[in-house]
Amino acid sequence: SGPEVYSPTGDPVDADPEVRAQTGPRLTTAQGLRLPDTDHSLKAGERGPVLLQDHHLREKVMHFDHERIPERVVHARGAAAHGVFRGYGTAAQVCKAGFLAKDAETPVFVRFSTVLGSRGSADTVRDTRGFATKFYTAEGTFDLVGNNIPVFFIQDAIKFPDIIHAGKPHPDREIPQAQSAHDTFWDFVSLHTEATHHTFWNMSDRGIPRSFRMMEGFGIHTFRLVNAQGDTTLVKFHWKPKAGVHSLMWEEAQIANGIDPDFHRRDLADAIEAGAYPEWELGIQTFPDTPEQTFEGIDLLDPTKIVPEEWAPVQPIGRMTLTANPSNFFDETEQVAFHPGHLVPGIDITDDPLLAGRLFSYLDTQISRLGGPNFAQIPINRTHAPVNDMLRDGMHQTAVHSGVAPYHPNSLDGGCPFQAGAAEGGYVEVPLEIASGARKVREQPASFDDHTTQTRRFWLSLTPVEREHVIAAYTFELSKCYEDTVKERNLRVLADIDPVLCTQVAAGLGMPAPDPSGPLPQLDPSPALSQLGGSWPTD
Ligand code: HEM
Repeated sequence: SGPEVYSPTGDPVDADPEVRAQTGPRLTTAQGLRLPDTDHSLKAGERGPVLLQDHHLREKVMHFDHERIPERVVHARGAAAHGVFRGYGTAAQVCKAGFLAKDAETPVFVRFSTVLGSRGSADTVRDTRGFATKFYTAEGTFDLVGNNIPVFFIQDAIKFPDIIHAGKPHPDREIPQAQSAHDTFWDFVSLHTEATHHTFWNMSDRGIPRSFRMMEGFGIHTFRLVNAQGDTTLVKFHWKPKAGVHSLMWEEAQIANGIDPDFHRRDLADAIEAGAYPEWELGIQTFPDTPEQTFEGIDLLDPTKIVPEEWAPVQPIGRMTLTANPSNFFDETEQVAFHPGHLVPGIDITDDPLLAGRLFSYLDTQISRLGGPNFAQIPINRTHAPVNDMLRDGMHQTAVHSGVAPYHPNSLDGGCPFQAGAAEGGYVEVPLEIASGARKVREQPASFDDHTTQTRRFWLSLTPVEREHVIAAYTFELSKCYEDTVKERNLRVLADIDPVLCTQVAAGLGMPAPDPSGPLPQLDPSPALSQLGGSWPTD
């Protein structure tokens, strides 16, 4: 039997060897030695030197010295909650995933976040918000790692380090901590006009949500669903908040940043504690899985594009209710590890080049953030499905594995229990045909080229008040840039969206509006490469 463990009242509770700390009436060391005193170091005389043999002192300070882990390289600041997802059964025609079945209930853990600020930054900054959901399904864990904005800054993950380097604080002064108001960000987005659409969403009221409870969520990429017959459908995932979509006024956001930098975090925890459980409906837009993977001329593999909901209505497939706050921020909110490749039978990825890079990045970053390869064993990351994985050893291994033959096939540990095909519930990737005769290239399709049309449509759909907010946001943010060339280049991008938007922002900045017929900013070939005569291998 395990060690005797006490509840705060002193009554013995179930002896779980993993329950540690603050559960009993007596203080102990990590080795369970009862302590009579934790306030004084062991000394040679009351005023004498502290003795190195004081193990309690060394253990206590050693552990404290190592309490911090690296914050996430992006989305470092977040807040989370537990809840439940209930399927409607309406997705059955397109998806065989068990958790979407009628009335199936699945525990979830959701983490909301800002993107750019550090762990200690403020909540109500103008930024994109992360909306990551872990579904602990009986068939394995499914993670939907999305944002509150339906498009992304870049079309290829190879540019992610660039956009994040541009968005993070300047390397010399480490400012600004959390907002987009600076030269490097605006330099990047004006040189990469594929970022125009996402940037515009950020400058709209969507960039300053009133509450996590009042945000939409989007899977952004197109996913491929598979039904029981093996038929496939392309989809985009949407979360629709039952409380509606609401934003702060810019002035409110700034005041909240000063008075209560924990505004969103507090709002979420208080609402749940008060029993006002936040709810979202999960929905899908569906598109035929044709070889072109387009819908009404929109390339479904381009994450900078939406498909208007008027053209492909969002069909509800389930409901999520958040019902409990984490009991320990570090154990749950900080250590949770999401991954867009955590899929279940019935859900597969597409060839969106942004998604491909994400599939590498999350697992990779978590090895250093969570100290080795065993973070799937951390309680918040444990799947609720049975595990038999043959992964062994490594830093922070806490499982005690049985068996002598962690390899496959073997003839010693009962042979090979695997080889479950789709019929037995095993995960099988959709056997998609890869374009025959494809060349290895570092190029992207012409269907990714239009960077403006959807942004213009978004602008034209706004009410006069919403337009005023967008103009004020661009004016404020660009006014914080030191470099006039950066401001001018961004005005030229705005001219391509709409002349009124451009003229008004230019007036606010006290600068002339650029000639809209002039050339759009272009990415120059790298001078360093061309000076050196460098070129990409043409493999
Ligand atoms: C973290 C969303 C693109 C790398 C996150 C988180 C969200 C998110 C919500 C926070 C997860 C959490 O709460 O723990 C998205 C969306 C993207 C996108 C919606 C585009 C559609 C990318 C790309 C890369 C990337 C292209 C890299 C190539 C990362 C990394 C983290 C992260 C390294 C930190 C993960 C961790 O430390 O656990 N992302 N992201 N993301 N993202 Fe992304």
